[in-house]
Amino acid sequence: MASPAFLPGLAPAGPGYPTRFELHHGDCVAGMRTLPDESVDLVVTSPPYNLGIRYGRYEDSLASDDYLAWSLEWAGEVRRLLKPEGSFFLNIGATPANPWAPHELALALRPLFALQNTIHWIKSITVEPRGGEPVSVGHFKPINSRRFLNDCHEFVFHFTKSGKVPIDRLAVGVPYADKSNIARWGHTGGRDRRCRGNNWFIPYETIVSRDKDRPHPATFPVELARRCIALHGGTTADLTLLEPFLGIGHAAIAAGETGVGRCIGFEIDEVYLAEARERVGLAGSG
Ligand SMILES: C[S@@+](CC[C@H](N)C(=O)[O-])C[C@H]1O[C@@H](n2cnc3c(N)ncnc32)[C@H](O)[C@@H]1O
Repeated sequence: MASPAFLPGLAPAGPGYPTRFELHHGDCVAGMRTLPDESVDLVVTSPPYNLGIRYGRYEDSLASDDYLAWSLEWAGEVRRLLKPEGSFFLNIGATPANPWAPHELALALRPLFALQNTIHWIKSITVEPRGGEPVSVGHFKPINSRRFLNDCHEFVFHFTKSGKVPIDRLAVGVPYADKSNIARWGHTGGRDRRCRGNNWFIPYETIVSRDKDRPHPATFPVELARRCIALHGGTTADLTLLEPFLGIGHAAIAAGETGVGRCIGFEIDEVYLAEARERVGLAGSG
């Protein structure tokens, strides 16, 4: 029996989006328990990292064992909900003072999932064109340290139940630099696309006002979620996407933009939830 707190969240798709959004206020573990087994194709999420980030409502500083026990609890629900051919994309970063955090979480989830791909979300990189000056692109928050390099990347762990789930690599592929490769490699099927690999350079968008443009301390770019959806593949209208830690809704926006049929989200903070609802065109719909 569904908890009444989650029932009124059902809402029609917002303007311009064919997606049916079900964005709920409340704890994601309780919310996920109301959903049937194997009813979700795709999970794109970024949980609290337990690195002391200052959220509006959530306290991001559990004892390490408690954090991992809680992670097993919510990820256990994700496993129950995921279809056998489903994909679970888990974004997590570290801090210089806690470099093991992403690895500890990934290892804790090993009894539940196969780690099928590890994607590196590159926020900033310096490239050195031959014979030219090094050029830095992208943004990061610089630290002042005699010990640590600036951390310019986060992980996206792609978990599946079997480790053998087919994906659509070319949906996030890139054109060949040397077009003669199209004919040379039979697997291209004549298409000018090759696999982009697992380093995804996705800089944060430049914003003018933090409060107005990105009123949340720890979001991933919409483009990151878009790529995860595309990589999972299939007919997007037939997909159900779940984001247990909705934040201000960047995975939901990506779901709308890519035509995902149904998008379910949970967020414990009413202020972030209201922002997410507004961003997908559900403002004022309850
Ligand atoms: C890393 S942020 C997610 C940001 C989101 N990916 C975005 O781009 O907007 C984690 C979010 O989880 C929320 N949260 C923490 N505990 C929760 C819980 N038990 N159930 C649902 N949401 C929770 C926090 O309020 C925070 O907004």
